[in-house]
Amino acid sequence: MSETQDKGLAADARSAGARVGLTSDQIIINGGRPLRGRIEVRGAKNLATKAMVAALLGQTTSVLRNVPNISDVRVVAGLLALHGVVISKGDDDEWILNPENVERAHMADIDAHAGSSRIPILFCGPLLHRLGEAFIPDLGGCRIGDRPIDFHLNALRKFGAQVAKLSNGISLTAPNGLKGANIELPYPSVGATEQVLLTAVLADGQTELRNAAIEPEIVDLICVLQKMGAIITMEPNRVIFIEGVKSLRGYNHRAIFDRNEVASWASAALATNGDIFVVGAKQEEMMTFLNIYRKVGGDFAIEDDGIRFWRGAKKLTPVVVETDVHPGFMTDWQQPLVVALTMAEGVSKIHETVYENRFGFTDALNKMGAKIEVYKDGLDDGTRRVKRREFEQAAVISGPTKLTGANIEVPDLRGGFSHLIAALTATGQSEVSNIGIISRGYENFIEKLKTLGADFIYEG
Ligand code: EPZ
Repeated sequence: MSETQDKGLAADARSAGARVGLTSDQIIINGGRPLRGRIEVRGAKNLATKAMVAALLGQTTSVLRNVPNISDVRVVAGLLALHGVVISKGDDDEWILNPENVERAHMADIDAHAGSSRIPILFCGPLLHRLGEAFIPDLGGCRIGDRPIDFHLNALRKFGAQVAKLSNGISLTAPNGLKGANIELPYPSVGATEQVLLTAVLADGQTELRNAAIEPEIVDLICVLQKMGAIITMEPNRVIFIEGVKSLRGYNHRAIFDRNEVASWASAALATNGDIFVVGAKQEEMMTFLNIYRKVGGDFAIEDDGIRFWRGAKKLTPVVVETDVHPGFMTDWQQPLVVALTMAEGVSKIHETVYENRFGFTDALNKMGAKIEVYKDGLDDGTRRVKRREFEQAAVISGPTKLTGANIEVPDLRGGFSHLIAALTATGQSEVSNIGIISRGYENFIEKLKTLGADFIYEG
């Protein structure tokens, strides 16, 4: 078929899409084409949103740069505005946050606005410091497990906060202010570590946090707080020591790049046999991913302004991966990588040790022709290096299999990007629904895919 006829059919399909009632939350991709080109990643979703909350702690205006244009950032901006923070946008990726008049917000407004975000839980410490009270609605976030907040609440109580459970959330007060505490986390939780940092910096006295998360985004948040005037020491063996200060000023900070987005684009290059240069990616924070990427058969070139990813080997090699806290293999990296593993010559295993329900996305891959078995209670087959946890799962991927286009629905953020990669890799057309979830964490992903040569029959 000629290029013109092809284009004509695609145009008909697009208009047909509009006719048969496809929604803006759906796309149709014609798969089987390698993704090639150059795209840019912005700041990390899992730092930018926390740095915005940290602005509440300052007496003066903060400026955050390299902020991704994603819905999670907009939700946090809305919540801050509800509490009186004056927010304006600078150049294309710069947010200006003026916290000089922080005020109480109505529970109903907070509840309505928080939506599916989990970030509201991090407002506790800053609002207790500024207002002496906080209301946090029941949290959303991807359905990848129970996602409790017990570590957060136990830490806040140790600082002297009083926590009351309400029908639609929790209400906190700190009648005697917040005092430094000795806290040991049962697990190096990213959120709970952020909770302690955002509370301890203005608490009265010293805080010692043990078994802390040390992800690059945590270190970048510590850099933000240090710029504000906080005194935070990272000690060996996951210990963080915070000396409370009387007040903090605003910061000017460029957010660290988004490691999860880089891993997603790298996996897309591997699965589609493409070649993608990701501007802004840096080696140090990606080392564990790069090792696995190379073992599967991917190749990469580290440049000063980014990393180039492509499929080096003719055949892909199966691997055994255990997700873990940093510097282990991030739990957010396994979903996009699994699509390439369906093409590997042999059996791969993913031991998911961080969340207890993070393989929901594999249903769609099996529907498209993959052979993936999920073991809800994990798989103790003697190949383990990471200590088994109470809640863990395993997926066994048998390859090589070919993916064929199908109608699939996005289950969660990272699983959603895995669905995109599967649709781009599969032979034939795939209709992907519920794609709005993907814009929570991936800036302008449709435009980026078009830049890389993706063939959209219908783009929502
Ligand atoms: C952050 O979630 C990230 N989200 C996640 O990214 C990421 O996967 C995760 O850290 C691990 O790196 C944000 O930063 C917004 P945890 P968080 O507290 O803080 C259990 C994405 O796609 N736990 O480290 O919620 C919890 O159930 C998202 O960008 C408790 O039991 O993760 C989980 O099993 C997905 N009690 C484990 O700890 C608590 O109070 C790790 O959770 C808190 C956590």
